[in-house]
Amino acid sequence: MDFKSSFSSNVRVFLLWMNTIAFFNYLKPGLAGNFNQDFGISWGDGRAKTLENGKILTLSLDEASGSGVQSKKECLFGRIDMELKLVPGNSAGTVATYYLSSQGPTHDEIDFEFLGNLSGEPYIVHTNIYTLGKGDREQQFYLWFDPTADFHTYSFIWNPLSIIFFVDGTPIRVFKNLESWGIPYPKNQSMSIYASLWDAEDWATRGGIVKTNWSQAPFTAAFKNFKSNVCVWNSGKSSCGSKADSMKPWFNQELDATSQARLKWVQTNYMIYNYCTDTKRFPQGLPPECTVNTTTIS
Ligand SMILES: *[C@@H]1O[C@H](CO)[C@@H](O)[C@H](O)[C@H]1NC(C)=O
Repeated sequence: MDFKSSFSSNVRVFLLWMNTIAFFNYLKPGLAGNFNQDFGISWGDGRAKTLENGKILTLSLDEASGSGVQSKKECLFGRIDMELKLVPGNSAGTVATYYLSSQGPTHDEIDFEFLGNLSGEPYIVHTNIYTLGKGDREQQFYLWFDPTADFHTYSFIWNPLSIIFFVDGTPIRVFKNLESWGIPYPKNQSMSIYASLWDAEDWATRGGIVKTNWSQAPFTAAFKNFKSNVCVWNSGKSSCGSKADSMKPWFNQELDATSQARLKWVQTNYMIYNYCTDTKRFPQGLPPECTVNTTTIS
């Protein structure tokens, strides 16, 4: 074999091999589903710990510091499920978070935050959505169970049509893509997945009425069964390609009639704050996404 033909056959083998890798990456749901592989500890000096070979993550908070982790990869659209068991007992002032965020002053962000309370008093599930650096889209809920007694699943679906927040499979909030009404929608900036536990007594306890009881520290929240089916974003490319969309049920997922009814049930019985009805806060008029008649959107 002369140099030229051996070179070209090597190139062919190499290209074939690259194609095979690309194909398997394309079938892969993105992340491994393991805290050791998928996440790095970003702060907290030993207060963030993984157990059982990365199947469980615990985050702790004491008077000196909280703790947090960040996914190693970034995604642009996905379905992410996480089971959380929140800080038990007197957790007033503590805030556990689980959210998606891109970087920089015009970042996008999709938040679940869990505001602790005195023993026996209800947690608040606080949600928010930032588009191009602007948030102010809070909705808050009570839960229909004790989130400290056991693990429960909190999920995001983020696709080009909508963002849906779920608790144990029940949708609690939907933010639709209303770009055709001139309302920005997160779809151009890849996001990392974050979880943290921190102290926010000045904010989280009705404006600092209740203080964190440090004699109960350390406070600990646990995370497990992290599952993701996401489009991994790497050097300007999505692992989903263009045809993969049909492979991923979440990619086109919107709420069917049953889920709409569940959402209504949550919003009627458990929603305690909705920025879209806070006319005092927005005297100049409610944010545009609150007044668009979404029933006209197919
Ligand atoms: C804590 O419990 C009180 C009393 O039930 C309730 O009003 C409040 O919304 C709860 N949550 C927080 C974070 O204060």
